[in-house]
Amino acid sequence: MKKGKLGLPLEYKKNPEYFDAFNIGDDTNEKNSVIERLLKKYKTKTVLDLTCGTGSQVFYLIKRAYKCTGADFSPTLLKIARKKAKNNRINVKFIDGDMRTLKVGTFDAIITISNAVGHLTKAGFSKAMRNINNNLKKGGIYVFDILNLEAMTDAVVPGLAYSIHKKINNSQVYTVQCSTIDRKNGRLTSYDTYIVQKDADKPKIFNNKFSLQLYTANELKEMLSKNGFETLAQYGLDGSKFLTKKTTSILTVARKK
Ligand SMILES: C[S@@+](CC[C@H](N)C(=O)[O-])C[C@H]1O[C@@H](n2cnc3c(N)ncnc32)[C@H](O)[C@@H]1O
Repeated sequence: MKKGKLGLPLEYKKNPEYFDAFNIGDDTNEKNSVIERLLKKYKTKTVLDLTCGTGSQVFYLIKRAYKCTGADFSPTLLKIARKKAKNNRINVKFIDGDMRTLKVGTFDAIITISNAVGHLTKAGFSKAMRNINNNLKKGGIYVFDILNLEAMTDAVVPGLAYSIHKKINNSQVYTVQCSTIDRKNGRLTSYDTYIVQKDADKPKIFNNKFSLQLYTANELKEMLSKNGFETLAQYGLDGSKFLTKKTTSILTVARKK
């Protein structure tokens, strides 16, 4: 990874077949239901998911009668999303594009879920906010989540580590992740190791490193305000009351000014 670059998880582009296995879990439905409740609260009907991945939120919302479009900058994840739509006979558009620049139309709401904006630098996120603003109707809603920098204490960061073993196609896939935090620049860096054994072949080992840009709740409010939004509310990912130094993720709802 080049100095200053954030890098990306391997499963976004190189190993998309691992994406659902490692990113969709028991808590996914719960998270999607919280987002849906917020979209309902603000009476939104048309939704653009600008970081849809394999379509978790898009399919959840379409099932609940929202008019939803998906977009992402990973063609390989979009391919999986389109295949799912085809297999389930769901009529949905998935568009290739970058959340900082893609212009699709004007929507009641835009979402970027599961720390997606953490893959952008601060300047990149400001640019994305302005672009999101341009894709929203007047008074439109932007909903996103990101890990809370103020909650990333030395006691919490080691607890983010995980190890998972899954059988994917004919391969045994083991992944381990540990993270560290640089509080000066607000970046959480994760170190991944994947061990992949196809049938009884010699296992292949991949190492990867990527960083997420984290924010404090107030920093987000300031950035949103500078980029054409007012912050309506901030919650925990489960919809709970947001506690500045305790709540691990910040789920923010902002309105286009
Ligand atoms: C953690 S995944 C979340 C995907 C989906 N929202 C979910 O919850 O399953 C983050 C997604 O953001 C996408 N992403 C990251 N940077 C992006 C950018 N600049 N423009 C568009 N998509 C981006 C990645 O390709 C990935 O699909």
